[in-house]
Amino acid sequence: MRIGVPKEIKIEEYRVGLTPASVREYVARGHDVLVEQGAGSGIGASDDAYRAAGAAIADTADEVFAKADMIVKVKEPQASEWVRLRENQILFTYLHLAPDSAQTKGLLASGCTAIAYETVTDARGGLPLLAPMSEVAGRLAIEAAGLALRKTTGGMGKLIGGVPGVPPAKIVIIGGGVVGTHAARMAVGLGGDVTILDRSLPQLRLLDGRVRTRYSTLEAIDEEVASADVVIGAVLVPGAAAPKLVTRKDLATMKRRAVLVDVAIDQGGCFETSRPTTHQSPTYLVDEIIHYCVANMPGAVPVTSSHALNHATLPFGLALAAKGLRALVEDPYLRAGLNVHRGQITNRAVAESQNAAVVAPEVALAA
Ligand SMILES: NC(=O)c1ccc[n+]([C@@H]2O[C@H](COP(=O)([O-])OP(=O)(O)OC[C@H]3O[C@@H](n4cnc5c(N)ncnc54)[C@H](O)[C@@H]3O)[C@@H](O)[C@H]2O)c1
Repeated sequence: MRIGVPKEIKIEEYRVGLTPASVREYVARGHDVLVEQGAGSGIGASDDAYRAAGAAIADTADEVFAKADMIVKVKEPQASEWVRLRENQILFTYLHLAPDSAQTKGLLASGCTAIAYETVTDARGGLPLLAPMSEVAGRLAIEAAGLALRKTTGGMGKLIGGVPGVPPAKIVIIGGGVVGTHAARMAVGLGGDVTILDRSLPQLRLLDGRVRTRYSTLEAIDEEVASADVVIGAVLVPGAAAPKLVTRKDLATMKRRAVLVDVAIDQGGCFETSRPTTHQSPTYLVDEIIHYCVANMPGAVPVTSSHALNHATLPFGLALAAKGLRALVEDPYLRAGLNVHRGQITNRAVAESQNAAVVAPEVALAA
């Protein structure tokens, strides 16, 4: 199969669909890989590095889209890319179609087969192609909090780890899933005083010992937040907007210039006063509480993020390259990623959010 890797064109996106190391894996299995010139520049991977891995370099995105059987990307295609996609072409990337009817229409009109990273599942009910970005965001959340605590950036002037004789900062993490676990690991490593709240007892049992754990009731959140220097919002209720666990009224109980990092902002945020921010201007103040609510946190570290994403997507991409649509027929977890196929929506949540008809992936693939 011929795999195409266009340069990402969404604003502030520096990741790349395939790293040179991944290209080498495809080439080793007899596939052709066509990479748009400069596609890896955001992660320091030169065209020569791609050539050395066995790829051919294309001058334009047009050439990549015209020649490839499968396009591997990071971000959802933009309007100028929808029109380049075509029937019998596989698109493998993050899509986030549910709130995006314009993109959905664009993909339907193209006739392509679009597989969304974010809806591919695994045997444990997890989302294996979202997990690496949650790992990155969780770890980054503590770096962001550390910076926001500094006086020089407008913070209260505390070091996360303290020093001998001076207590560390108190870090409260609400949600002990992938984001929360990785935030905790970073915070513990820096010497912070870490508490995790979750509603899942099995998850709290796993975390117990390394950090203080607490069952997440409204009362527990009130108490922990009031004494925190940093609160990390890392909850997820699958298929729903994030619950608002810290209200504007709660801010009055908090320390002046405490930091709220709302990682769940991409699901609407779990603090009432959160609104999405960018890496250019990541924080703002409400009632003297610092809010950090960057919606695409992994975008700040595209080298780490691209490699982490590639490690997760590679086995699925190789299966698609080897078997084409049969890979979807044979693997129910990959099939869960099928969102659009030959002009039909094949994901229930996407169809429901847009009041459109859905065709079961099995049925669409059999047609
Ligand atoms: N901003 C970004 O750049 C970025 C990047 C990656 C992930 N995220 C977001 O981070 C959030 C967390 O992702 P994840 O991968 O860790 O999810 P996850 O499913 O692994 O973990 C979520 C946890 O929240 C817990 N939870 C649910 N309701 C709760 C409550 N009321 N109190 C306490 N805990 C509660 C669940 O039991 C679960 O353990 C998601 O919204 C995800 O989209 C954002």
